[in-house]
Amino acid sequence: MRAIVTGAAGFIGSHVAERLVSEGHEVLALDDLSGGFESNVPDGAKFHRGSVLDPLDDLFRRFRPETVYHLAAYAAEGLSHHIPVFNFTNNAVGTANVLAAAYRAGAGHFVFTSSIAAYGHPHSDEPFDEATPCVPCDPYGAAKLACEHHVRAVHAYYGRPAFTIFRPHNVFGPRQNIADPYRNVVGIFMARALAGKPMPIFGDGRQTRSFSYIDVVASCIAHAPMAPAARNATINLGGDEPMSVLELANRIAEIFGVPRAVDFLPPRKEVLHAHCRHDLARSVFPAEYERVTPIAEGLLRMADYVRANAVPAPTECPAPIEIADNLPPSWADRLAARSTAA
Ligand SMILES: NC(=O)c1ccc[n+]([C@@H]2O[C@H](COP(=O)([O-])OP(=O)(O)OC[C@H]3O[C@@H](n4cnc5c(N)ncnc54)[C@H](O)[C@@H]3O)[C@@H](O)[C@H]2O)c1
Repeated sequence: MRAIVTGAAGFIGSHVAERLVSEGHEVLALDDLSGGFESNVPDGAKFHRGSVLDPLDDLFRRFRPETVYHLAAYAAEGLSHHIPVFNFTNNAVGTANVLAAAYRAGAGHFVFTSSIAAYGHPHSDEPFDEATPCVPCDPYGAAKLACEHHVRAVHAYYGRPAFTIFRPHNVFGPRQNIADPYRNVVGIFMARALAGKPMPIFGDGRQTRSFSYIDVVASCIAHAPMAPAARNATINLGGDEPMSVLELANRIAEIFGVPRAVDFLPPRKEVLHAHCRHDLARSVFPAEYERVTPIAEGLLRMADYVRANAVPAPTECPAPIEIADNLPPSWADRLAARSTAA
């Protein structure tokens, strides 16, 4: 198969591209390196540095992808309140642009990574399943939901490309950017542990997530075009093991052999408990879901990677702040320091 993977210099995209290359597929990686690193692109994949907002027809028509995996996004959910136009342009307009180029180049399958953020706040104690109404509570989730509707509408009108929409959540593992202060809580905590600094937690740390190790997530995404039941389906993707953010901080301190030290910050508006059912993913990808890596094991593997690799320079928000009201003070200080330095 010939496959284009957008966002392949990023965390999940690089694992998807790696899986595809290792299984003998021809891969073109497209990434503007705004949040990823060229060194993440696996050997054996071609790399094109460019934005998903660029005119893409020449590139796509020359490569003639059978499948386009669209993972490129600016995925800083909390910050998306403060960069709504950038967020919508990069994520939703970018998706429309990639999908149009995929269609015109004759691609048969479009795989899109949406997010659990599409659901918004839980309406009950039940985990989200794919039939739960989507009422996103931040611009990132709203843009992801708009993308989902757009992908389905294009398919309904033109009859192709077939699609698979994934709603992953809280994925972690090697190659995750640990130097992005606005997202990736596991990475942020590991970077702090390495630097011997306290781990920042918004609120009391009792918010819970089901942190999901990358291996199953990347396999399911890569294998979507080969799984008949994934055709034109929307699928939650990740683990089932709930953990509070405070417990996560304590576990990471233990792994790195540093004292438990937390910097409790004022709470920010966020979903308190976010969990999903994965019955559909299990039935569509039984082989991939056979052995889900437990969080404890995944943290050890990621810690090994983090210790063995240099911490990259801090990643900054790629756009100026558009609405500064309610910015968490720690972010406001950081962004103010950056604009003063500039
Ligand atoms: N990591 C998670 O827990 C998680 C959860 C749910 C959904 N997702 C989704 O999965 C996808 C991958 O996320 P990730 O965690 O690997 O993020 P990531 O930031 O590591 O990777 C995203 C990549 O997209 C690239 N990119 C951003 N804007 C671009 C543009 N305009 N043109 C070209 N490239 C661009 C970045 O340089 C980066 O390499 C995203 O769509 C994200 O919304 C991630």
